[in-house]
Amino acid sequence: MPAYQSPALNVMVAAARKAARPLSRDFNELENLQISMKGPADFVTSADKRTESILIEELSRTRPGYGFLGEEGGAVEGKDKTHRFIIDPIDGTTNFMHGIPQFAISIALEREGQLVSGVIYNPITDELFTAEKGHGAYYNNKRLRVAARKELGSAVIATGLPFMGKAGHARAGAEMAAVMNVTAGIRRFGAASLDLAYVAAGRFDGFWERGLSAWDIAAGVVLVREAGGVVTDLNGGTEMLANGTVLTANENLHPQLLKLLKGVNASAKVEAANEP
Ligand code: IPD
Repeated sequence: MPAYQSPALNVMVAAARKAARPLSRDFNELENLQISMKGPADFVTSADKRTESILIEELSRTRPGYGFLGEEGGAVEGKDKTHRFIIDPIDGTTNFMHGIPQFAISIALEREGQLVSGVIYNPITDELFTAEKGHGAYYNNKRLRVAARKELGSAVIATGLPFMGKAGHARAGAEMAAVMNVTAGIRRFGAASLDLAYVAAGRFDGFWERGLSAWDIAAGVVLVREAGGVVTDLNGGTEMLANGTVLTANENLHPQLLKLLKGVNASAKVEAANEP
């Protein structure tokens, strides 16, 4: 446990652990469903919904009146207009559906419009990432610090890619080409919350993605900031939750990556695509 953990963070961790138990059982059952022709999509949708309702029930029990923004339920205003939980019941749904143990429950707490706490929990690997504004970021008991590498040439950078039906394929290809040309490698793990947590943990040196939702990003933003990293949107501003773009790295690599990615987007070819 971190040196200090607020009552609110305790509640968030307890909710994540409670929702994780049936979710882990579902994940194990999926192995049997993989072989059916129809595939496990319906099963996953119900796991998603049930996980979100357990989270809401648990969080509301001790924090009645707080608002919610959730992947399944959308925005629900609470009586308390100053607090809101932002939750993703399964970040990395495609991984979950394919039996890949890289997904997480992600919960952030916003106070007066500021992200103040974050919990990201992978129920299969039992990896718990927590952070609170002003009190550091932790992986289980261990204090986290972003990686110290200063050169892109030795950096491993994660990203997320649009899939069928999503915009931005040409732009993603151009951005990847630019980044792979100057780094030690790119990774695409498929759960943005864990990508952000891995940057906080110094496993990845950086991460960028477009087309995300607020619940994919919110908890990870607190993690990275508290681990000493820089996190912005892809314009270099702080509208990550509003515009769904994110770029994070340490203070040396972040400006280099931002310049590189802005350079890609200034090129006529990608500009013409005018994609988000
Ligand atoms: C997805 C994951 C993935 C990212 C997608 C997201 P979801 O979240 O974070 O890594 O590439 O853009 O939608 O839908 O599984 O909660």
